[in-house]
Amino acid sequence: LKPLPLDTPNLPPMLPGGLPFVGHASELRSNPVAMVQRGRDMFGDIFCVRLPGTLGVVMTGHAAQEKYFRFRDDEVSQREAYQLMTPVFGKGIAYDAEPQIMKEQLGFFHGALRESRLRTYTDGFIAESEHFFGQWGQTGEVNMLEVGNEVTLYTSTRCLLGDKMRFKLSKEFSELYADLEGGINVISFFAPYLPLPAMRRRDKARVKMVELIEKIVAERREGPQSHEDILQTLVESSYADGRKLTVDEITGLILTIMFAGHHTSGVTFSWIAVLLAQHPHIFRRLVAEQREILGDRERITYDDLQKMKLLEATIKEALRLYPPIILVMRRVLKAFDFQGKHVPEGSMIIASPAAGQRVPEIFPEPHRFDPDRFMPGREEDKRWPYGHIAFGAGRHRCMGIVFAQLQLRALWSHLLRNFEFDLLDPSYPVDYTNLIVGPRPPCRIRYRRVQQSAGA
Ligand code: HEM
Repeated sequence: LKPLPLDTPNLPPMLPGGLPFVGHASELRSNPVAMVQRGRDMFGDIFCVRLPGTLGVVMTGHAAQEKYFRFRDDEVSQREAYQLMTPVFGKGIAYDAEPQIMKEQLGFFHGALRESRLRTYTDGFIAESEHFFGQWGQTGEVNMLEVGNEVTLYTSTRCLLGDKMRFKLSKEFSELYADLEGGINVISFFAPYLPLPAMRRRDKARVKMVELIEKIVAERREGPQSHEDILQTLVESSYADGRKLTVDEITGLILTIMFAGHHTSGVTFSWIAVLLAQHPHIFRRLVAEQREILGDRERITYDDLQKMKLLEATIKEALRLYPPIILVMRRVLKAFDFQGKHVPEGSMIIASPAAGQRVPEIFPEPHRFDPDRFMPGREEDKRWPYGHIAFGAGRHRCMGIVFAQLQLRALWSHLLRNFEFDLLDPSYPVDYTNLIVGPRPPCRIRYRRVQQSAGA
């Protein structure tokens, strides 16, 4: 390991503690939010931590977050922070590509996420809500985290590969996807290619995934069918120099968007259940909003979802308290100064949605679940453009914000009109063991079916 540049003049203050060799990495792993909070309480907007082989610089608070998210790609790089994903996405794909190529590749998603497509995907979200929750009984106990991850796997398959594949391929697709996920862990963050069984399964699954996508692409290239899904956009796209995407690239980009959007939406779905069961007065107001917009209508539309402002604010507030991506990182390519401190080239800068969204100067009473903070009249997120960073901010802000909002609104609109929920566990703590952070399993909730019409 290289020595850290701790003799740099004007370095931000170092957080006390940490262990030999691994520095603050174990604290970062067991409770990163508490660690960031500890540093913020001691030093304010900017401080250092020791990470294996690298100097970490944590930046929280509005000014620091603005600075962080306004950097250009030639000033800071995301590549190393996401290198654990390269064996899954593929060489030369997304974060492993040169910035200009990555920009082109992510640009293909703009077409796949345009409004007319979002309308089609929304039909899929609504159909899936009816199908999936239609199988629930009058009452039952569920692990809401599993429910969130399962239902969003089906909605994702519909949007990526089409409605038909949802039923034909979900099993095969989800098994391969599970093996790919199994190869992403703390070890792969530092050594993505170690010959461990989980990594071998990951690599085999990727080969099979390419074969699976290859078959579908070949079928599509043969017949004059029309498809309204993300795969089709990628099949039809070409780079600026006119080159079409290879099947390996198409598969890599399908996996990129899947990994970006699936668990992030799944865990948010489950936090909403926990928060609404904890706050019945908000639940009742949301049911009333459904009634106001839909009357006795059972089938909802894209336009109805756009009108559900309290539900939108509730999702935003769930994401403020419990963002699934608790930290984002960048490698510093050009040294910079901030608040009189000097951050050297080569260090890793860290922003934390989980800690940064609980800063009381930005969000008063930050630990209180209060969706009204995002309703007209208050709109705390508009007052502080770098305050709500669950979706990141700036040039690499999440491309799936509208998609995620529509999906969560469709699922929750259905649940609000058809079920009530009770908590079954004494507490629902945050589980920091996964890369995408959600409530700790079993996250048990009891549901009860109510009269079909919200007006009843
Ligand atoms: C980027 C969060 C859903 C596609 C990001 C980033 C965050 C984030 C924090 C920025 C990462 C960074 O700055 O390093 C979330 C959350 C979601 C969600 C909390 C759900 C609740 C989705 C969905 C999609 C998606 C559904 C696609 C349909 C992307 C893409 C990027 C991204 C492509 C990379 C953008 C770029 O680098 O230019 N997301 N995301 N996300 N997200 Fe999401």
